[in-house]
Amino acid sequence: MQNAVVTGWGKCIPPAVLTNDDIAGFIDTTDEWISKRTGIRRRHISHVNTSALASVAAQRALAAAGLSGSEIDLIILATTSPDTLIPNIAATVQADIGASCGAFDINAACSGFLYGVGLASTQIASGQCHKVLVVGAERLSYYIDWSRRETAVLFGDGAGAVVLEGVDGDRVLGVLGYALHNDPGGREFLKSEFGTGMNRFDPESLNFYIHLDGREVFKRAVHGMQSLCVRVLEEAGVCDAEVDLVIPHQANARIIASLAGRMKLPMEKVFINIAQYGNTSTATIPIAICDALDEGRIKPGCNILSGAFGAGLTSAALLLRWGDRTTPLNSSDAELPPCESSAMELIRPALDHFCN
Ligand code: UT7
Repeated sequence: MQNAVVTGWGKCIPPAVLTNDDIAGFIDTTDEWISKRTGIRRRHISHVNTSALASVAAQRALAAAGLSGSEIDLIILATTSPDTLIPNIAATVQADIGASCGAFDINAACSGFLYGVGLASTQIASGQCHKVLVVGAERLSYYIDWSRRETAVLFGDGAGAVVLEGVDGDRVLGVLGYALHNDPGGREFLKSEFGTGMNRFDPESLNFYIHLDGREVFKRAVHGMQSLCVRVLEEAGVCDAEVDLVIPHQANARIIASLAGRMKLPMEKVFINIAQYGNTSTATIPIAICDALDEGRIKPGCNILSGAFGAGLTSAALLLRWGDRTTPLNSSDAELPPCESSAMELIRPALDHFCN
């Protein structure tokens, strides 16, 4: 059986920045409330569609792995904000990277990237695939009703990707275990009315937005992530003390602190970068992996525990033992097209619609 090891990683953050003060300029909130209650200081607003973010992250991950797109034999793209539902946007990424393989999108909300890595590792372990690209990409700004302060302050746009490769050997490396769950009793607490349930002939139906019952999701998030993290550690025979780094979904710094507290994992072992990006849903974990590598937080052979939760209410946990390499083999020259607008200019049509 082959171990699924991460050999490439890349992220794509759109350049336009929307600060807490920018948001406080149009709704009743403050930088102090947002940073204290969530840990968020800014988020990025995309001037391009989700697939463009995903393709750049994918090309950077391929370069880091020293691979070309034609060597990939499965693409799994996690998103809840695809630029098209038909076809899926994994197909767009596939065309951009020149791959010839299976490709599909998954919607498991903020847990989507961990769902994707779990499925990829199983494909590799079974021998069905050898090199799998997993991307998490979101343009959640598309869904925001900027008059609703409970969600306007939380979300941002971005993408991250990893390449997983099958590696033979005596040493146990790569994905050591994963667990997936869904709590349908909580599906009303985090939702958007976008989909075939909309009356396409009624212009009112275009007023879809993300509805969030923050307190309910907060409680269920901590409980859901904790139980799956505990299960994954137990099944892998790894104890808390052997966890070197925790890379959780970045939805709220207080959720992360609660999870660490309940699991008695010291905060020094927990990676948090929510201040810079807000909640980019399924992209938070691959972006955090890239940042943790850049900051030297990921060492060869270290045990990384990751947990996520999101609409559904999905949850997932993953235990990953990093391989030997923590630096990219190559860099990519893939870039987004230049952005001529500020974040405020990019959200202006939505502001005019929702706030006037
Ligand atoms: O990735 C999956 C999706 N992410 C999540 O679901 C996040 C989960 N939930 C959360 O992160 C938190 O629940 C929130 C950040 C959404 C809200 O924080 P909270 O500490 O749970 O606040 P709350 O909803 O209990 O509201 C406390 C107060 C309320 O005022 P009153 O009733 O005490 O007067 C709210 O109206 O804070 C008020 N409030 C705000 N004030 C300023 C809510 N949002 C804001 C805001 N600015 N943006």
